[in-house]
Amino acid sequence: MRFGVLTGGGDCPGLNPALRAVVLRAARAGHATVGFLDGWKGVRDGLLRPLGPADVHGLISRGGTILGSSRTNPFAKEADTARVLATLAQEKIDALVAIGGDDTLSAARELFRRGRPVVGVPKTMDNDVGGTDWTFGFFSATAVAVDALERLRDTAGSHHRAIVLEVMGRHAGWVALGTGLAGGADATLVPEEPYQEEPLMARVKAAAAARGYALVVASEGIDLGPRRGTTGGKDEFGHELLGEREVGAELARRIQAQTGIETRSAQIGHIQRGGAPELFDRILATRLGATAVDLALAGRFGEVAVLRGPSVVGVPFDEALKTPKTVTPDWLDLLRTFEP
Ligand code: F6P
Repeated sequence: MRFGVLTGGGDCPGLNPALRAVVLRAARAGHATVGFLDGWKGVRDGLLRPLGPADVHGLISRGGTILGSSRTNPFAKEADTARVLATLAQEKIDALVAIGGDDTLSAARELFRRGRPVVGVPKTMDNDVGGTDWTFGFFSATAVAVDALERLRDTAGSHHRAIVLEVMGRHAGWVALGTGLAGGADATLVPEEPYQEEPLMARVKAAAAARGYALVVASEGIDLGPRRGTTGGKDEFGHELLGEREVGAELARRIQAQTGIETRSAQIGHIQRGGAPELFDRILATRLGATAVDLALAGRFGEVAVLRGPSVVGVPFDEALKTPKTVTPDWLDLLRTFEP
């Protein structure tokens, strides 16, 4: 068999280990792999490179993706779709492994519906793919944010300030939740909960009264009213472009104005997406990549390798993509236990 593999959507730590797993698992079974460059763009434009065992050496510990990524939607225009189908035929791809989040996997499902041999691997630092317990990328990205919060704790304490840390997460607040929980924030704001100013200010004041400083974690997607810098445009998958992400700075202004506590903000942005994958992400990416190959070898096209409890299993695209996973009330209840 000739395997094709691609990485699409926002990159995250774990993509390279997943590529390594796909290539080595396929090679072990006697099959060759080619990698498409920059997500679906590479399939559309016929941009690819051979990926043999030597090409993936050392990838277990490398951030990013050696194939590159993009948010190209191959089904946005009929002409592009035709080119994608032509490339797969021309390159004689017997099995395509699409590694990505909801958008990349939705495109993979569409390709499968058109009769092409596709399997999926979920990834995203946002952790919001519905059909899997966790996605790789989340743990590494959140560890970066926790490290940032711990650094902010030192300086907030020295200067008796409040500091707001803004983290990624447009629609799902998993990174903020994980950062608040693992970093011991005094208040954590996620997009799943309507913004409430009074309890936030009360928590900041209580923390400052108890210890002389306060730490707030905010997801970029919380709704503070109209955003300055919003572009108003949409990406190829129809998602609104957020423009400048500045909820942290806006919250800092509000906190200082309402509590009188000197307040600063920090935005770590794409720093969260880089760096070596954490242990859990390396292992999860490896298991999912290898399982995707196994699914293809068993002829189980149209399935996505997902984590369910202790096991990695294949589920149909529809099941994996049914509902995006957002932060649930029980998690917020747990979080509130540790806030003042
Ligand atoms: O989807 C992952 C993600 O990191 C989001 O959390 C974030 O809002 C977005 O990507 C940023 O996208 P871009 O890299 O296109 O600015």
